[in-house]
Amino acid sequence: MTTLKTPILMLILSAVSAVLQTLIVSFIAYKITGNFDLAVCLLSFFISFIVSFFIIYYLFNQVVFRKIDKLYLLIKEQQPKEIPNTEFQLDEVDSIDRLEEEIKKLTQERNKEADQNRNLDSYRKEFLGNVSHELKTPIFNIQGYVSTLIDGGINDPAINIEYLKRADKSVDRMIQIIDDLETISQLEVGTLELELETYDIAQQIKDILEALEFQANKKSIKLQLAKKYDKSILVKADKFRIRQVLVNLITNSIKYGRETGRTTVALNLFNEQVIIEIKDNGIGIAAKHLPRLFERFYRVDKGRSREQGGTGLGLAIVKHIIEAHGETIDVESSINKGTTIAFTLKRST
Ligand SMILES: Nc1ncnc2c1ncn2[C@@H]1O[C@H](COP(=O)(O)OP(=O)(O)OP(=O)(O)O)[C@@H](O)[C@H]1O
Ligand SMILES: [Mg+2]
Repeated sequence: MTTLKTPILMLILSAVSAVLQTLIVSFIAYKITGNFDLAVCLLSFFISFIVSFFIIYYLFNQVVFRKIDKLYLLIKEQQPKEIPNTEFQLDEVDSIDRLEEEIKKLTQERNKEADQNRNLDSYRKEFLGNVSHELKTPIFNIQGYVSTLIDGGINDPAINIEYLKRADKSVDRMIQIIDDLETISQLEVGTLELELETYDIAQQIKDILEALEFQANKKSIKLQLAKKYDKSILVKADKFRIRQVLVNLITNSIKYGRETGRTTVALNLFNEQVIIEIKDNGIGIAAKHLPRLFERFYRVDKGRSREQGGTGLGLAIVKHIIEAHGETIDVESSINKGTTIAFTLKRST
């Protein structure tokens, strides 16, 4: 109905103008002839109506709709896809209503953008805060050890080597954080090129499980494959990056696993994809943390993670790597029962 508003308004204006003109003409005719002629009235009304309508239509077109068209173009520049570049057409759409609609849309969009910018800004501030906080700990540690050594500790054989070793460990920690941040930023700006190759993922997992066995043994955690996977399972992926993914996921299952627990890696084969599943029976993650789990620096239990030497960057890197491969990753977890993280890779022949 709203689309008819302007034509109806034009008709009403034309009718009002025609009535006024008819009254004037009839009055003049009456003065001249001395009698009232209905035919003259009707003819006058008809002619005035038609003439008024075209004049009003012309004026609307020249003055109002041209301006509206210009406004359309202006909005279109701001919002290129959504607004069609249409000239006003009487029987089609009411330009004024549409303009109002488009302005509302534009305002909503601008508000949405402003909200996003505010979120990004607070995300950036939070990120900077996190980075400096994480770097502060090893820096203060190094400062403490070095100061003690300068203040005479260097000559004390009971602590000198030990403090140098601890300072060295803190330097390693800083390097680790900076390396992780560099990887994340390369993945985010897309400068990290994947080096895709065809290789046997089953063998890669066996190698990683073997390498992490020592770490798992410390907590008496058993690392195992769901099956033997005797035949090779070929995937097309960046071997080095997928190793990074697997190491972080399996290390997490050890770090957040329980003593005498178990981590099982399973490979589920489909025609074009393989799903790699890492399942533990550790502390689990409460459902409310799952949506933020892959965010940079997000840790469920900061104290526990830091104790384990974690920064909360691991899963953010994992997700970026999997997405850079065009694949997906999913997590399922229940508290005190355990966690399963699964991701997909493309099979190769
Ligand atoms: N298998 C798991 N079981 C329970 N909690 C987990 C598991 N994997 C990850 N988490 C939780 O998710 C958080 C984020 O994991 P992520 O790998 O990103 O960081 P991190 O292991 O703490 O540190 P980093 O990997 O950077 O050394 C962890 O701090 C931990 O709280
Ligand atoms: Mg981790």
